[in-house]
Parts: sequence; C-alpha cells; structure tokens
Amino acid sequence: MNESIILDKPKIYDRILDKSNAIGFTMPSDIFIGTLLKTLITSKPNSNILELGTGIGLSLSWMIDGLDEASKLISVDNDNNLIEIVKEFFSNDPRVELVCEDGSSWIKNYQGDKFDLVFADAWPGKYSEISEILDLINLGGFYVVDDMKVQANWPAGHQENVDRLIEYLEKREDFSLTKLDWSTGVIIMTKNTK
Ligand SMILES: C[S@@+](CC[C@H](N)C(=O)[O-])C[C@H]1O[C@@H](n2cnc3c(N)ncnc32)[C@H](O)[C@@H]1O
Repeated sequence: MNESIILDKPKIYDRILDKSNAIGFTMPSDIFIGTLLKTLITSKPNSNILELGTGIGLSLSWMIDGLDEASKLISVDNDNNLIEIVKEFFSNDPRVELVCEDGSSWIKNYQGDKFDLVFADAWPGKYSEISEILDLINLGGFYVVDDMKVQANWPAGHQENVDRLIEYLEKREDFSLTKLDWSTGVIIMTKNTK
C-alpha cells in the first residue's frame, strides 16, 4: 500500500493550497486527515458537522466533499482574513456556514442541533471547552483531533497540553477511542450508543 496515492482530491484543493502558500499560512491541515474526514462524513447522511479552526479551508474542502445534499456544516475561525479568503472558495454552497468568532465563546453560546462529527482543529474544543464540545456530539457521532504527535511549530511546553488532553479523552467512558500513529497523530472517538 502507498498511502500517498490519493485519487479523490477535492477539485478546489490545489487552488486552496496555492492560496495557502501565497499568503504564507503556517498551519494547514495535511492531506491525510482530509481523506479521513471525508470518509467519516460520508458515513453520516443528513448530518450536522462542525469544524473548529477553518484555517485556509484545506480540511474543509475534504469535509464538504463528504457531505450529502441534506447535510450541513459549520466552520469557525477567529481570523477574519482567513474567513474572508475561505468564503471566496465556498460561499455559494448553502450547506456551509462560515463563522468568524472566538471558538470558546461560540461553543458556550451554541444553541443548535448536536453534531454527528466534530473536527477540533483550534485551541477551543481541544485544549479548552473539551467537556462542552463532547456534550454537543450525537450518539454514534465522531470527535476527531490531529497533531497529537510532536509538530515542528509547537510552542515550548505544548507536549503537556497534548498529554493532558489524551489523558482526559481516554477517561471518557461514554466514548470509544482509537489512537492512530499516522498522519500528524490522530485520535478518533465515537460517542457510545450503549
Ligand atoms: C491548525 S489551524 C486550522 C487549519 C485548517 N483546518 C486548514 O485545513 O487550513 C488552526 C486555526 O485555528 C484558528 N484559531 C486559533 N485560535 C482560535 C480561537 N480561539 N477561536 C477560533 N479559531 C481559532 C486559527 O486562526 C487557525 O486558522
């Protein structure tokens, strides 16, 4: 098997990657987590999906490719420049809502339907508001995080945050958890139905 052979890249993916390079965006999600997110979302027709940390929209392009026509997706980032760039790529898709807001306040104030998959790719929903975000996941729904293995752009001391998060997630008896030593280090959790 050669994991680098990826045949179903979103049509818009290379344009987003060019934009990411052009503006010097330093935190793009890798292509592997994108493929995983699309695969998981495809298993959830008529679903409600959340991404925390829109960034430049690379992971979002994969997530949208997994959505069926009845599904909807909210993506949140606190950087207005990034949200405006990403709107250029996806604003004519009525299933997608791009929100420019601090993720912590967004999670605390959210009153809508629970989610079938949450990709937590920003501090909120990952290193803060973790119990709040897990409460917002439907039974059988997924919680996904990456960057669990050491990354070149980690600030000093970040390993402790990651260790604390993993310890917390492993103790959640209401979820099943898989750690993947793959991509940037991925954890997938599913909310137990029994
Ligand atoms: C790892 S990047 C996301 C990469 C993105 N998934 C992609 O594929 O381009 C993390 C993002 O979280 C955003 N962010 C950081 N702090 C945040 C906060 N408090 N609330 C919302 N977004 C935040 C940053 O602006 C950044 O775009």
